[in-house]
Amino acid sequence: MTLNAQAPAPNAPSGALNIKALAPLMGAEIFDLDLSQPLDADLVADINDAFLAHHVLVFRDQSLPKDAQVAFSENFGELESHVHRLRSGEKRPALHVVNNLDENGMPTERPRTTGNYFWHTDKSYHAVPSLATLLYAVELPPSGGDTLFANTKRGYETLSAETKQQIADLRVEHSWEASRLNTGNTPATEAEKRDRPPVVHPLVRTHPNTGAKTLYVGMHTSHILDMPEDKSRALLDMLVDHTTKPELVYRHQWRMGDLVMWDNRCLLHRADKNYDMAAQRRLLHRTVIKGSLPF
Ligand code: SIN
Repeated sequence: MTLNAQAPAPNAPSGALNIKALAPLMGAEIFDLDLSQPLDADLVADINDAFLAHHVLVFRDQSLPKDAQVAFSENFGELESHVHRLRSGEKRPALHVVNNLDENGMPTERPRTTGNYFWHTDKSYHAVPSLATLLYAVELPPSGGDTLFANTKRGYETLSAETKQQIADLRVEHSWEASRLNTGNTPATEAEKRDRPPVVHPLVRTHPNTGAKTLYVGMHTSHILDMPEDKSRALLDMLVDHTTKPELVYRHQWRMGDLVMWDNRCLLHRADKNYDMAAQRRLLHRTVIKGSLPF
């Protein structure tokens, strides 16, 4: 480079992302982007295309203060606050922290909320659930603490014709209250239940952008409407087991600097307890983008 050569403008539109697929069913890593800088509309469109094609995007080597993560997330839609209230009773802000820490900031096997360790799709207990989640690694254990993603489009496609027919028109109640019970967490408070009454969604969901059919299940479900409780729970559990078989799962092994963005409309996800939760810190910043009414 000559002495007076200009450094390239950050995130100048290239027309092509530096992107590499991570696994056949989902996942791609993206390099050479600085997400703390404003993005050109063409670049946002490229990221959107990659997001629909790969479902999980891993942006490597980021350095993202909270407000920069919020600004980047807002390129893709309106952000959600979290239903779980702060101890003060106030609603949580748009960016919240996922961690395994106790009240004194020490690692623990029993953090206040462990819902992230169970298969779920974010905010399916909302009438209008989430489109995407963005998770940025701030503190990681030396190894483990992975996040797993399961492809619910492939899960639907690989069901037998008979099961597809059986579940075609079923409707499922999801609720924050059920979610807390299913995960053995402290029960939902009266204020939380008032804020988030149960909602009903189709069991087989159509992805609004791709038209693909997906299984809309996970730990926020309470029951299938008009079905005896034991049959309903057995069917919901069977579908989660089916769509989370190892061959339908991508395991994300975090690196510092990763920002991972995923599509909640065609994936389930959960964190893995494959680290020493009682001794090692795991802390990530999370933003969630509102989606649309499932159909
Ligand atoms: C989440 O459930 O949104 C967070 C997943 C994780 O902790 O890896």
